[in-house]
Amino acid sequence: MRKCWVSIKMLSYNDMLEGAAALKEKLNGFQPEILIILGSGLGRLGDCVKEPSFIPYELIPHMRTSTAPGHAGRFIAGELGGKRVLLMQGRLHVYEGWDAADVVYPVRLARLIGAGSMIVTNAAGAVNTDYRAGELMIINDVIKFNIVNPLIGPNIEELGPRFPDMTHIFDADYMRVFKSVCLEAGERIHEGVYFYCSGPQYETPAEIRAMRILGADAVGMSTVPECIAARHCGMRILGVTLLSNMAAGILDKPLSGEEVIEAGNAASHRLNSYVEEFLRRI
Ligand code: HPA
Repeated sequence: MRKCWVSIKMLSYNDMLEGAAALKEKLNGFQPEILIILGSGLGRLGDCVKEPSFIPYELIPHMRTSTAPGHAGRFIAGELGGKRVLLMQGRLHVYEGWDAADVVYPVRLARLIGAGSMIVTNAAGAVNTDYRAGELMIINDVIKFNIVNPLIGPNIEELGPRFPDMTHIFDADYMRVFKSVCLEAGERIHEGVYFYCSGPQYETPAEIRAMRILGADAVGMSTVPECIAARHCGMRILGVTLLSNMAAGILDKPLSGEEVIEAGNAASHRLNSYVEEFLRRI
């Protein structure tokens, strides 16, 4: 048999329905409106959820669990900013060895149980040299030049079309509302393009220079697979990046995972309060 160099795990629509049924049962009548996926070191938003119920990923059929540092590996369901949310405390990354289809599985489950929107946060390196570490960026578009793609394989027509449009991945109203929340809080907030790399190695300085020429403002190892899947099935999306560090080669120092988690922890209180206020306003 000819071996394909890309490993494609075919999660069928029936697998998804099975996972969605299990999640629905664990939610016990609670119907989330918004899925929230939290980035490295940013998981503390889970502490703000009212009347939380906790669902470890391993209780959901076909669901993978997070192995990355700073990612707990459970859903938290409850109320936040007056909205019914399903929060992922711990996301899945392709660099952990999961297929892109596994990474986006929870997005599809959330959609199947009725969530119409998704908020994604992440930590990323600043490619734009006008940016500073510790600042926030609203993602207004993405660049993905690698093969990692959750939609490769037979299209699941029940979720969305074979060739989905990606002209407006991020919801214009959501961007506007989040921006005003940040500005009112005195935050220096950027809007920019997120360049997706699978990782897990950080980029080389030459790659960062190339990304800058291509129009990228930040670089990270997450978010884009989830956004592709969420747009495919018609969800409205807000994406927010914490610029945890200046990207490789900008400062004369090596990058480290610890630095990223620390930056996430330092910013998480601020970012979480903006997300909560955003939820109140939409
Ligand atoms: N590169 C890629 N991913 C990241 C970075 C970075 O500099 N910082 C946080 N996540």
